[in-house]
Amino acid sequence: MPRPTGQARSKAKAKTAAKPRARSRSDKGGRRSPASKGMVLVTGASRGIGAELAKQFAQGGHDLVLVARNAGQLLELATAIRDDYGRWATTVALDLGEPGAAQKLYQQLRREDIEIDVLVNNAGLLDNGEFTAIPMGDHLQLINLNIAVLTALTHQFLAPMRARGSGRILNVASLASLQPVPNLAVYAASKAYVLSLTEALSEELKGSGVTVTALCPGFVRTDMTVGSNAEGNDLHLPSALMLSPQFVAEEGYEACMKGETIRVPGLGGRLVAGFTELQPRAVRRLTAGLLGRVLLKKDPS
Ligand SMILES: NC(=O)c1ccc[n+]([C@@H]2O[C@H](COP(=O)([O-])OP(=O)(O)OC[C@H]3O[C@@H](n4cnc5c(N)ncnc54)[C@H](OP(=O)(O)O)[C@@H]3O)[C@@H](O)[C@H]2O)c1
Repeated sequence: MPRPTGQARSKAKAKTAAKPRARSRSDKGGRRSPASKGMVLVTGASRGIGAELAKQFAQGGHDLVLVARNAGQLLELATAIRDDYGRWATTVALDLGEPGAAQKLYQQLRREDIEIDVLVNNAGLLDNGEFTAIPMGDHLQLINLNIAVLTALTHQFLAPMRARGSGRILNVASLASLQPVPNLAVYAASKAYVLSLTEALSEELKGSGVTVTALCPGFVRTDMTVGSNAEGNDLHLPSALMLSPQFVAEEGYEACMKGETIRVPGLGGRLVAGFTELQPRAVRRLTAGLLGRVLLKKDPS
């Protein structure tokens, strides 16, 4: 599938983008359901791993703030969360890539008196292809969402958690955070940042009552990697290598609630991670390089 130009790509995104808005009228009915286990904010909740994570938290008795750009998909999920799990859910349709979005979101929730107990930093972008074939604007958009926005949200929501002496943060990283990956160079580097930040904060916060967890799945069957919404990223990987978003979300929810620092879902992922960690850096680069060049090579079209 040919890669859309940077302009086409941002136009496609603009179509689904929506201004931040107040709590949907249909969400009325109190800010927490009875016996709530806490309020969870999930970014990138409109589909894929984020939507499945939201369902896991709802099933576990949590109420939800669902954030992404696609208002329709968010409302559908909020309705399902209320109907299927009996939990309270609200939606914020917001382009987190816009300057100041993290702060705007934090302020909006404060105004609505919604306190966040668990922050799930899931929204992310992936660009597959040779480094120079990907427009610089796309690289910057990815770095902004995967790194800057995640850091800003963590900064905003962690401070009140620390002050209360309780809270959890779940950062969706990737198996790609463990080694450099050719053809996913900027993506893998952005996830290495997420893992490093998570590990550092997890140590910094020891004894504070707040935990930070990195979820590091291998390839997952979502719009990011397969199908017509993959925006030219369709990775053509054997389906045996792909995890289901539901399984990944189950693992992420469990690890977050246990306060683990790193969770690699699935035996295959854990074998890859273990093998990677055992290798000297040069060998790691060599094997990841070989796999990345062969598996992720794009047609020059
Ligand atoms: N799929 C994999 O193989 C894989 C593997 C390891 C890690 N991960 C990570 O898992 C996370 C979720 O990925 P996924 O596979 O579920 O991808 P996905 O299906 O493409 O979902 C991405 C989510 O992020 C949201 N999003 C994207 N740009 C946004 C923006 N500017 N503002 C607000 N929300 C935005 C999207 O919603 P809207 O379009 O509605 O805004 C969507 O809900 C990402 O961090 C990804 O890097 C994925």
